[in-house]
Amino acid sequence: MARSTHIESFGRQVLECLPSGILVVDVTSRVLFLNSEAARIFEVVRDEFVGMMLVSHARFRPLIASINQYRRRTPALIPSRQQFEGAIVRNDGRVLPLGFSISNLVNSRRRVLGYVMIFRDLTDVQRLRERARHSEMMAALGTMAAGVAHEIRNPLHTIRAALDVLELRLARQEDPERYLEVVRREIQRADRTVDEILDYSKRAEAHYRRQDILECLRRAVGLVRRPAGIQVVERLDQEIPALYFDNERMLRVFINLIENAVDAMEDRGTITLGAERLPLGTAEGVVANIGNVAIEVGDDGPGIAPADLVHVFEPFFTRKSSRGGTGLGLAICQRIVEEHGGQIEVASSAGKGTRFRVVLPVREVMGEG
Ligand SMILES: Nc1ncnc2c1ncn2[C@@H]1O[C@H](COP(=O)(O)OP(=O)(O)O)[C@@H](O)[C@H]1O
Ligand SMILES: [Mg+2]
Repeated sequence: MARSTHIESFGRQVLECLPSGILVVDVTSRVLFLNSEAARIFEVVRDEFVGMMLVSHARFRPLIASINQYRRRTPALIPSRQQFEGAIVRNDGRVLPLGFSISNLVNSRRRVLGYVMIFRDLTDVQRLRERARHSEMMAALGTMAAGVAHEIRNPLHTIRAALDVLELRLARQEDPERYLEVVRREIQRADRTVDEILDYSKRAEAHYRRQDILECLRRAVGLVRRPAGIQVVERLDQEIPALYFDNERMLRVFINLIENAVDAMEDRGTITLGAERLPLGTAEGVVANIGNVAIEVGDDGPGIAPADLVHVFEPFFTRKSSRGGTGLGLAICQRIVEEHGGQIEVASSAGKGTRFRVVLPVREVMGEG
């Protein structure tokens, strides 16, 4: 007897020492117990708070909502713990972020008597998260800025060098044409870089409609200039369902892919367009997804070296800088496809060619036929 009282008082002391708030309520939300950290977090006087109904305080509604959620998710008889995050408003109006777990309190006959909640003040954790997010953003911005600076400065340097030569040539009354051409080309390149950077970074207002993706693909083919030696063949499954996409944005994707294929093959070769419907349920996590469609743009050009393959979707990665490449084409493609809930993949083998594959979800959209 004396021994069990000892253990009880020992247990209570442990609860008081914990840096976490502990709150126990019964199934009607009546407060059965709280430790001093919980009293501190909730700014309540402990003895007054015990016996109160949590539901009758607006401040504690979020906790009740979590308990209800827990109840719906957890089979009553199994004492299991679940994690939640929430916040309560302090008396001074500040919002206190809380992490907490809920477990059910079960008696020896496995009846649920109530709920045990263990709270942690997440103020510091959130501050750290915020700081980490901020430094990640700054790092990304730094990388982007370095890339932009480099891409703009390159043509500027070339232009300056060309102007030096031009000056000399004009002084000697030699033909300036070639150097004027360099200046023109480099200005165009810088201009395009700026356009593509804007394209890459803008969250353009999307105009999603249910429409024919093959029509979009064919339009892209028509818009890319190619040498007569490059032919385009279609290997299309005509059963492709209408997809839900932004026509201008997807057109941009296909143009970029076809332009790359043309660039890779130079004078002659074959571009193969493919489209197939993939079996149901291959993409996870999209509730209304009822399958996928894969669109392919393949070429029989030189292929991409394995070491380059992992980098091709990175902004500013290019092997064509001497030919006006910006390295933003595929980065833009990836962004657009991901905005559509899809994926873009590449497969390539040296000497045989390259195949880009855009996988888009077939969606039932609420309120649409
Ligand atoms: N079809 C392709 N065949 C071979 N290499 C390709 C192909 N598509 C892309 N690449 C490689 O990926 C790089 C990045 O492409 P992209 O992002 O469109 O930038 P850019 O075309 O401006 O270089 C290209 O420079 C090229 O090296
Ligand atoms: Mg490109």
